[in-house]
Amino acid sequence: MVDTESFVDEATAEIADAIGEENAIIALSGGVDSSVAAALAYRAIGDQLTPVYVDTGLMRKGETEGIRETFAFMDSLRIVDAKDRFLDALDGVTDPEEKRHVIGESFIREFEREAREADADYLVQGTIYPDRIESEGNIKSHHNVGGLPDVVDFEGIVEPVRDLYKDEVRQVARALDLEDVVSERMPFPGPGLAVRILGEVTEEKLDVAREACHVVEEEVEEHDPWQAFAAVIGKATGVKGDNRVHGWVVSVRSVESRDGMTARAQDLPWETLQRIQSRITGENDDVARVVYDVTHKPPATIEYE
Ligand code: XMP
Repeated sequence: MVDTESFVDEATAEIADAIGEENAIIALSGGVDSSVAAALAYRAIGDQLTPVYVDTGLMRKGETEGIRETFAFMDSLRIVDAKDRFLDALDGVTDPEEKRHVIGESFIREFEREAREADADYLVQGTIYPDRIESEGNIKSHHNVGGLPDVVDFEGIVEPVRDLYKDEVRQVARALDLEDVVSERMPFPGPGLAVRILGEVTEEKLDVAREACHVVEEEVEEHDPWQAFAAVIGKATGVKGDNRVHGWVVSVRSVESRDGMTARAQDLPWETLQRIQSRITGENDDVARVVYDVTHKPPATIEYE
């Protein structure tokens, strides 16, 4: 990319040219790529763009509020509260692949309805250059929610950041005053906290996972991991006060990686691990045990399901 400002101007003009007087829709995930694509498209076509953020109930702590604040400048922003629908769809689902499938399908259903309501002719996507390489090589196809372009019969797909690398997308984000998104957060999987919960996804496990992930992110930040989070992996016996309890087992994972394809478990200081343990068990009486995952990728994956 030559210079950020001319990129922004050119991309804006290109989007305006492609979409003209029609309507467009984009799925906002809260990540930098879709945020930049949405901000560019909004600059180009204003309220002809409907940015849709689906709150699946599987998001990190504060994520939805963050989106609302960051994108307050977009009058056409739609925040869809789909928590109950996702939880209902996940009721009784324990198989990891089926879980991902159910989440993908539920997402498509939400998006399809929004696209119809917005009367959208065009789909804007935050695809970046490495995504195209990966999907050509089919390396990470299972990671993409997938199928979106086939859902509704769009006249066209517009991908304003398709030739950019991640660091370039971040530069553009800064130029567009999306500081919150840039400074924001480690990678977060599309299926959200559901892949950080072994077995059935319940509201109770989601609460444990969400709070524990928040603690881990805060405590590990200074060690600059590629990704750090917590997962709810089962139940075990513990003692709280004078009583034996059967509480949740939370596994803490913090990894270094370049691209997520391989990863090394971080060598975190004992004090950090103990602080995490004491905060997680202290803040939630139903957590009986905290363990640290020392497995690299391979043989483990980064996420749990
Ligand atoms: P795994 O668990 O396969 O994860 O070692 C590698 C990287 O990909 C992220 N991940 C996903 N990202 N949708 C996404 O957008 C997904 O379904 C998904 N599953 C895993 C994971 O967080 C890690 O950064």
